[in-house]
Amino acid sequence: MSRVPTEEAKSGGNIRRLTAPAIASRKGGEPVVMLTAYTARTAELLDRHCDMLLVGDSVAQVIYGLPSTLPVSLDMMIAHGAAVVRGSARSLVVVDLPFGSYEEGPEQAFRSAARVLQETGAGAVKLEGGVKMAPTIEYLTARGIPVMAHVGLTPQAVNTLGGYRARGGRNDEFSEIFDDAVAVDKAGAFSMVIEAVLESLAVSITHAVNCPTIGIGASARCDGQVLVVDDMLGMFERNAKFVRRFENLASRIDAAAETYAATVRARQFPDPSHTYAARVRSRAEA
Ligand code: KIV
Repeated sequence: MSRVPTEEAKSGGNIRRLTAPAIASRKGGEPVVMLTAYTARTAELLDRHCDMLLVGDSVAQVIYGLPSTLPVSLDMMIAHGAAVVRGSARSLVVVDLPFGSYEEGPEQAFRSAARVLQETGAGAVKLEGGVKMAPTIEYLTARGIPVMAHVGLTPQAVNTLGGYRARGGRNDEFSEIFDDAVAVDKAGAFSMVIEAVLESLAVSITHAVNCPTIGIGASARCDGQVLVVDDMLGMFERNAKFVRRFENLASRIDAAAETYAATVRARQFPDPSHTYAARVRSRAEA
């Protein structure tokens, strides 16, 4: 397993990592590019194309095959966050605070977020929720922790929402999510994810708030976009409506594994170029 030199190594260590204020200043400008990442090698590959890498709690489904994000622990997020920071040099790394690690109140959230920043080297945390989370966002931001908010479909609330359907279609839902977005913006979030909402709602929020909005199933008129990397690479058979597959990696892996298996069964691998033959040493070498 040979390591490809990181962008930082290639540049002689001159790459500066993007910061939360740098992302905040992109409001209304060039769209902000974000993808999720969970491992060091994937982070290395994505780093030069992205502005932010999100270590999402979607690690639950993507890496661990879990049915929802609820079982993810803070220790899991920290392990994956540290790997993504090691693999990247340029992108701002944002780590999700997992379910149960911040909802009790600002102080619990501070303890969890401080561990994330100290133990991973990431530059920001993300948490789900709107009006109710605004005091926590204000508390963290005032104490040196940049917070990305997440409104609309908030997967950690799957049990109260009753599923993963798109949101904002009902009048009360539309104004509730709009109020959430305004509240987290006022509280000091440096950016916010808007997930799976009516396009008109995403556009209204983007116009109303000061921080950049990052859409997923929202609108191309948000200030940036995010997708789960394995969805975008075509690793899964089924995807949400908002996913576009930019590659079909699942079928490529299937084809490579099929060829490998056939080659092994035919005893055609390894061949002499992949095996070690005894070298005859000359007298001078002996
Ligand atoms: O966990 C995650 O991957 C996310 C994105 C869907 C925004 O929160």
